[in-house]
Parts: sequence; C-alpha cells; structure tokens
Amino acid sequence: MRKIFSLLVVLAAPAAFAAGGGEYIQEFTPDTTNKASLQRGARLFVNYCMSCHSAGYHRYSHLARDLHLSERQVQENLIFTTDEHGAPTKPGALMVVPMTDNYAKQAFGTVPPNLSLVSRARGASWLYSYLKGFYLDETREPIGVNNTVFPDVGMPHVLWELQGFQAPVYKTEMTEGGEIRKIERLEIAVPGEQSAEEFNGTVADLVNFLVYLGEPARLERQRLGIWVILFLLVFTIIAYFLKREYWKDVH
Ligand code: HEC
Repeated sequence: MRKIFSLLVVLAAPAAFAAGGGEYIQEFTPDTTNKASLQRGARLFVNYCMSCHSAGYHRYSHLARDLHLSERQVQENLIFTTDEHGAPTKPGALMVVPMTDNYAKQAFGTVPPNLSLVSRARGASWLYSYLKGFYLDETREPIGVNNTVFPDVGMPHVLWELQGFQAPVYKTEMTEGGEIRKIERLEIAVPGEQSAEEFNGTVADLVNFLVYLGEPARLERQRLGIWVILFLLVFTIIAYFLKREYWKDVH
C-alpha cells in the first residue's frame, strides 16, 4: 500500500515540485537515445548513488535489455550487492539498497528516496542543477554542504571527488525589507578530479540515466505506437470493404 501511495504522490508531484530553486535552475535537455551515455550513467548510479538510494521499481535485467549489455556485463560491472544469503544479487532482482529505513533516519535525518521516478517528479533540469548545486556551508552539520536548488538538503555532496567543492560568491540585493544576501554563483574552492566541462558531462550522463529510469518503456512505446497506427489504418480499410460487401444485397 505504501508503495502505491508513494507512486501516486510522485505522479501527482510535478506541479508541486517543479518550481523549487527557480533562479538557480540550469536548462538541460535529456537524451535517452544515447546508449553510451546511459551506460556511463548506470555505472555512476550504482557506484555513487545506490549505497543510499534504490531504484526499486526497476530490475537489473531490464538494464541489460535496454542498455544493450549482456547479463554477464551487468553482473560484473553494475551489481555490488548480495542477497540475504550472501550470494551476489541476481540480474533478475530489483535494484534495491540494503540499508534499512531506521539506519538511514539516524544517519541522514531522513530516508533517501527511491529514485526510480524522481525525474518525473522533479524534471531533468532540476536534477541537473541539483547535482551541480552543492556548495560548502559550515552551518550545515554534519554534512558541511548546502544546495542551491534544495536548501538545507540532507544529502552529502557524494560527487565531491569528481567535482571538488564549490564555494558561494554572494551579492546583496535591496528589497523592501532591507538588504538581503544572495548567492550569485558558485566557484570551485577545492578542485576535484574532473574539469568543470568533464563534470557537466558526468552529471548529464547521470540525469539521462535517471530520465530513462523514470520511463524505461518510452523508446519501446514510440516504436510500438507507429505499428499500432499502421494496424488501425489497415483495419479501417478492411472494415470499409467488409461493410460494402455485407450491405451490397440490402440496397
Ligand atoms: C550518503 C547517502 C546518499 C547518497 C550516496 C546519495 N544520496 Fe541522494 N539523497 C540522500 C538523502 C538523505 C536525501 C534526502 C534529502 C532531504 O530530503 O533532505 C537525498 C535526496 C536526493 C534527491 C532529491 C529527491 C527529492 O526529490 O526530494 C535526489 C534527486 C538525489 N538524492 C539524487 C542522488 C544521486 C543522483 C546520487 C548519486 C550521484 C545520490 N543522490 C547519492 C542521500 C544520499
């Protein structure tokens, strides 16, 4: 029941959530036809995200099918968890996390959400901006970071090795209530392994993958749709001639 409820919430959410973080949103157009990008995204996802987040409506074997990987490649490169008997998780299994909700609450104050449908709830541009929006903030104990599009977020900056750490550059704005301090932009304070451009690519791969997760059947559906319409056309023609045939003697 809880699952159905959270599904409903997610499906109903776009209108409620989409606006979050307004001025810090960078436009991003996802591309789920780029298989190489999706494969890189899947790898990043299992390495950097799945220690906390599950993609629980999705099976590893679907990744194999949709991303053009063999089940063996999936088993060797994308599965790092074990089942309850300690054996490596099978490709047919759901992409879930071993961490319990209670542990997560203690560690992060909240349970990291299932990311299967997050791209539908938040949109690709929000996700892109979120993953690039972490910045150093000492007031945030214990994770030490904040986020431009998700203020006071409970998630640590998990991609810090790649991106490094950003620090905010502030500007002051005059409003009716007086001066307020606002973040103008973020600057790299501690460099990571990747250049800004490489990191943009990394985040793009991850977001492409999250968008694919949200709607794995999209490509399949578009292909099928064409056949369905062709079928309906042919069927209409047949029906028309049948009708003529049946009514011939009546008139
Ligand atoms: C160490 C645990 C941890 C890891 C690893 C982690 N996250 Fe999170 N994430 C969280 C927590 C906790 C939250 C909830 C934040 C909150 O509600 O304040 C969260 C929230 C999010 C959200 C916002 C969901 C929403 O709509 O509210 C997104 C998107 C997200 N994470 C994406 C990712 C991605 C992508 C990765 C991998 C690159 C990742 N996370 C890795 C702990 C983690």
